[in-house]
Amino acid sequence: MHAKRKQMSNRTFTMIKPDAFANGYSGAILDMILKAGFRLTALKMTSLSAGKAGEFYAIHRARPFYNELVEFMSRGPIVAAILEKENAVADFRKLIGATDPAKADSGTIRKLFAASLGENAIHGSDSDENARTESDFFFSNLERI
Ligand code: CMP
Repeated sequence: MHAKRKQMSNRTFTMIKPDAFANGYSGAILDMILKAGFRLTALKMTSLSAGKAGEFYAIHRARPFYNELVEFMSRGPIVAAILEKENAVADFRKLIGATDPAKADSGTIRKLFAASLGENAIHGSDSDENARTESDFFFSNLERI
């Protein structure tokens, strides 16, 4: 296995979503992530076609909100990143807060920057395996350190 891939248990994947990007929150969100002790090992600004957004969220294909999610995620630019820290997946999910910003703890990224369950500012992988899959979806080996 490639050495970089071995370290994925200390890594997670994140995406600043089109709502947060359009509101100009990307810099403040990245600042919070870095201040919480995460290191960037890959970073890019890009946008998703509807096809690519649908592929990324294929696991939710049968859910009633799938079409809305794909439409939203392909609406404008996003920032994708791979983050490194001990216990990265769990610690990052604590930092971003609950999926529904109304239920997110105060001080979390979603509480501060998200407006609704559908448009919730930021994504964080929910397992080491998904962190690996989602990182590989966005980044080649040449694009990560
Ligand atoms: P995320 O953590 O990126 O993973 C799946 C996304 O689907 C989630 O954030 C929300 O943006 C969205 N989502 C989850 N549940 C709902 C819902 N009930 N209605 C609309 N969107 C949802």
